[in-house]
Amino acid sequence: MATLKISDLHVDVETEDGPKPILKGVNLTVSSGEVHAIMGPNGSGKSTLAYSLAGHPKYKITSGSVLLDDVELTGLTVDQRARAGLFLAMQYPVEVPGVSVTNFLRTAKTALSGEAPKVRTWVKDVNAAMDRLGLDHSFAARSLNEGFSGGEKKRNEIVQLEMLNPSFAILDETDSGLDIDALRIVSEGVNRYTAQGDRGVLLITHYTRILNYITPDFVHVFVDGRIAAEGGPELADNLEAEGYDRFVRAVAASE
Ligand SMILES: Nc1ncnc2c1ncn2[C@@H]1O[C@H](COP(=O)(O)OP(=O)(O)OP(=O)(O)O)[C@@H](O)[C@H]1O
Ligand SMILES: [Mg+2]
Repeated sequence: MATLKISDLHVDVETEDGPKPILKGVNLTVSSGEVHAIMGPNGSGKSTLAYSLAGHPKYKITSGSVLLDDVELTGLTVDQRARAGLFLAMQYPVEVPGVSVTNFLRTAKTALSGEAPKVRTWVKDVNAAMDRLGLDHSFAARSLNEGFSGGEKKRNEIVQLEMLNPSFAILDETDSGLDIDALRIVSEGVNRYTAQGDRGVLLITHYTRILNYITPDFVHVFVDGRIAAEGGPELADNLEAEGYDRFVRAVAASE
């Protein structure tokens, strides 16, 4: 069992006019076996949180800590964090021309586990994961994300999740741009991952639709760079009905 503990995290983003504070004291603990949904208005800093956890160099952690068990992640490089057990499915997956999906997956898996997976079982495993996510096997030979439709990129992120099987997964709007069938297929992928019982998920989303398939243990409302409210799955229904206004006003009034 593992714990991802984010404490008083402050993060600046580098802009042309100098550093701009985005995260203003995030506190959040995700234990293995738990699914935490993060919902919040556009621009509130949800992706910034995701990137900061993964180690994107554009985001500067100015104070606070991120502990994965007793390993402090904030000083580590992206690959070190991945090896520690962290995975990020990006809101906008990056196109990598010239690097095939299969080579990418194999290289990532080798880097994570320290040894190359066996070729014969590996190809079979990748094909099976693609089948489960409804991606044709021909995607394996294509350049990573290049020319993929929005939904195909998202499905491919979940193929990565299945093949790399990290201890903690941050899924940044993995549901956006999916058709109805893909939403169910992608959700089932996430549920297979969590069904292992000892995996943690941080699910960033705008829509309660995905929460009909993936039941979160906790829902957090993210406003202006911090968590403004927390609750169970009922909080998501509440947000769907009422919007974020109440939380945004409360945060503004406290400043
Ligand atoms: N280079 C930059 N210059 C100025 N502002 C930036 C820069 N990069 C990020 N920001 C700002 O940081 C804020 C947080 O952005 P972020 O992408 O984390 O929001 P989000 O909560 O993920 O929004 P969404 O729901 O739209 O995905 C936004 O207001 C964004 O404009
Ligand atoms: Mg975002």
